[in-house]
Amino acid sequence: MSDQPLLNISGLRSGYGGETVLQGVDLNITRGEIIAVVGRNGVGKSTLMRTLTGLLKPSAGTIHFQGRDATADGADLRARNGIGYIPQGREVFPELTIRENLMVGEVAGRGRGSPNYDRVYRFFPILKERSRQRAGTLSGGQQQQLAIARAMIGNPGLMLLDEPSEGIQPSIIKDIARNVRTLNSETGVSVLLVEQNLDLIVSLAERGYVMEKGRIVAELGADEIRSRDEVRKYLTI
Ligand SMILES: Nc1ncnc2c1ncn2[C@@H]1O[C@H](COP(=O)(O)OP(=O)(O)OP(=O)(O)O)[C@@H](O)[C@H]1O
Ligand SMILES: [Mg+2]
Repeated sequence: MSDQPLLNISGLRSGYGGETVLQGVDLNITRGEIIAVVGRNGVGKSTLMRTLTGLLKPSAGTIHFQGRDATADGADLRARNGIGYIPQGREVFPELTIRENLMVGEVAGRGRGSPNYDRVYRFFPILKERSRQRAGTLSGGQQQQLAIARAMIGNPGLMLLDEPSEGIQPSIIKDIARNVRTLNSETGVSVLLVEQNLDLIVSLAERGYVMEKGRIVAELGADEIRSRDEVRKYLTI
């Protein structure tokens, strides 16, 4: 892993209609890093994710990805350039089969290596067993695995992971942490994790940022992010 910057966000402002949510966010991710953005409900974590995917247009600030200015790029181009997105609430296509959901993820990876189904099925064997079933028949935890797999299949350089623990039982949360860590060490993919779940933050992230009301108000170093007491301060009222 090098310390080459992968993602640089500077002065990012974004929101909905006339309402500004992100009030000037600065953030950096190095290649191979797993970073968490922690913060309570409604502070703007998902808004940050949607602005990074290109689904929301920033009103000010810049996004550099892999050394190039991506601020004006649309969502399709950012996906093709290697920004993978696992949205809050998973958003798998319930009427499509598991295999078909994964094929949707292939589109993003065109031109960046062939889709590695063996790896996806090694990480998430249940997806192979159920490949012909409709995704809507999976449990919440399995749908979360599918959403991660759908991003994996496109060979992203950066994965945006929005509250994967939400509504999921602790054993599956552990599983997700282990799989994301393994993927990171096997492929060097960087991960931007947005979370409120203490266990997942502490077990996965190497460094972090604290968001409040659309601003980064603190940074958490390697020691702080591993301290449950330290991280908890920013999650409870
Ligand atoms: N589609 C939308 N249209 C208008 N306002 C929105 C929309 N989505 C979110 N907001 C508002 O933007 C603010 C930030 O929301 P956001 O979803 O980014 O928070 P969050 O930190 O992800 O919260 P949570 O932890 O609950 O997911 C909130 O005030 C929310 O009401
Ligand atoms: Mg959110």
